[in-house]
Amino acid sequence: MPNSHIPVITIDGPTASGKGTVAARVADRLGYHLLDSGALYRLAALSAVRAEVALEDERAVAQLAEVLPATFSNGDIFLAGEEVGALIRAEEVGNNASKIAAFPAVRQALYALQLGFRKAPGLVADGRDMGTVIFPNARLKVFLTASVEARAQRRYKQLIDKGFSANMDDLLADLQARDERDTHRTVAPLVPAEGAYILDTSDMTVDEAVAQVLHWHTLL
Ligand code: CDP
Repeated sequence: MPNSHIPVITIDGPTASGKGTVAARVADRLGYHLLDSGALYRLAALSAVRAEVALEDERAVAQLAEVLPATFSNGDIFLAGEEVGALIRAEEVGNNASKIAAFPAVRQALYALQLGFRKAPGLVADGRDMGTVIFPNARLKVFLTASVEARAQRRYKQLIDKGFSANMDDLLADLQARDERDTHRTVAPLVPAEGAYILDTSDMTVDEAVAQVLHWHTLL
């Protein structure tokens, strides 16, 4: 592959583990590109809902994902020219994303798009299967996790900060359901990649987690 020499750091982990924030900060510090792969699944789910395609229809959702009109620019996320960065953070979009992400045809449809993010000088990719499936030859692989309570707290704060309403009990139940689906699906289940460093951030600040990943990076 022509770009296989370009360094990749993968940061995988369960929902609300903080991997998005950590990945963005690490990319910023290293001057690397960023792939928020979860955003692609969220965009595909939003596309399907807008096109009134049933989320259970694997083929139809995959067809939409194959030609997803997604663009990323300076932290903004566009779907067919409309800025939807905040909108796709809604819990409903996340839950729908998790449902369609279980379909092999949908994952396959988004495969080439994800590989295209590997550009010089390097890439930080966050998601569920970055180190296991999409970039198995990544230079550094991290599996970021945290207790379900810590993750529910973080998601609660994130939603409130973004102006969404949130209920702690519902969030805990949603998180557990999403963990269950992401971990037990047959394609690209959420598991640490071979050789991944495991980072439990339950009692860590974002700065500490970023510092740890950058430290591992310097060891390579
Ligand atoms: O913010 P959160 O971690 O909940 O979600 P996300 O990273 O934006 O991803 C949304 C959903 O897409 C997840 O629940 C996963 O089911 C799915 N996903 C995936 O299957 N593979 C990826 N590489 C990234 C996300």
